[in-house]
Amino acid sequence: MNVKGKVALVTGGASGIGRATSLLLAEHGAHVVVADVSIDGAAETVHLIERNGGEALAIAADISQVDAVEQLFAAGEARFGGIDIVINNAGIVVGPPGWPDVGAARLAQVIQTNLAGVFIVQRTALDSFAKRGGGVVVNTSSQAALVPLPTDPAYGAAKAGVVYLTRASAGLAESHNVRVVAMLPGMTQTPMLATTGDGEPAPWLAEILKNIPIQPASEVALTALDLIQDDSLVGVCRACRGPDEGGDFDLPD
Ligand SMILES: NC(=O)c1ccc[n+]([C@@H]2O[C@H](COP(=O)([O-])OP(=O)(O)OC[C@H]3O[C@@H](n4cnc5c(N)ncnc54)[C@H](O)[C@@H]3O)[C@@H](O)[C@H]2O)c1
Repeated sequence: MNVKGKVALVTGGASGIGRATSLLLAEHGAHVVVADVSIDGAAETVHLIERNGGEALAIAADISQVDAVEQLFAAGEARFGGIDIVINNAGIVVGPPGWPDVGAARLAQVIQTNLAGVFIVQRTALDSFAKRGGGVVVNTSSQAALVPLPTDPAYGAAKAGVVYLTRASAGLAESHNVRVVAMLPGMTQTPMLATTGDGEPAPWLAEILKNIPIQPASEVALTALDLIQDDSLVGVCRACRGPDEGGDFDLPD
């Protein structure tokens, strides 16, 4: 899909990968609905887009709640006439205290946001896309889906669930003219890293960060753009890797 003139809804658009993707899509001529629990951050993303001559709308929405997501899509449709692209990206980590000391309520919140929330947004997108004849969903998983993450299994399990959802949605291309794909960022330089600890990366993450490269969010946004533009991709789960690491690669089926 050529994004020029299309409407993209980005969840978690107030920060990090969501903000970088919002800016890139706007640069390529998309109108952007920037959704986030942080309305101030979403408004700042909109400001950055408008400063570059783009058009965007900030909406406060908690994607873990069905009503809020339905209202979000309705607001985007009211402003721009419909939605064509969804970057299903909002997510959180457990944070301190980590597993297994973390309380059950926080675990439930992580799964409700990172897995149920992604389902809710994708499901609501189907109804919205139907009014336009089709669309594209890019789900944000993580390379944490690929190997057990003993320090935050709720996060890793939810992200593995997003890979599953994406693959299980391949048939929507034929039945609904909706392409569902996923990107799996590796370590990416965003404010999320500091939320693993008390305002800085948790000790376990600081240790990992010493040994592996960190991608800028702007590079991950390029992966999202590629996934949107290539109409041949259906159910594809693409791991994000910097050019020095050999570039992106698709998970085997
Ligand atoms: N940063 C990394 O290293 C990394 C690696 C792999 C995957 N990811 C994934 O990329 C996505 C974006 O993460 P990021 O690194 O840009 O993090 P970030 O913390 O910079 O941005 C996440 C945004 O999501 C928003 N958000 C959280 N819960 C929400 C909710 N219930 N409803 C609406 N918005 C909500 C936050 O307010 C924040 O603005 C996440 O799904 C994350 O799991 C990040």
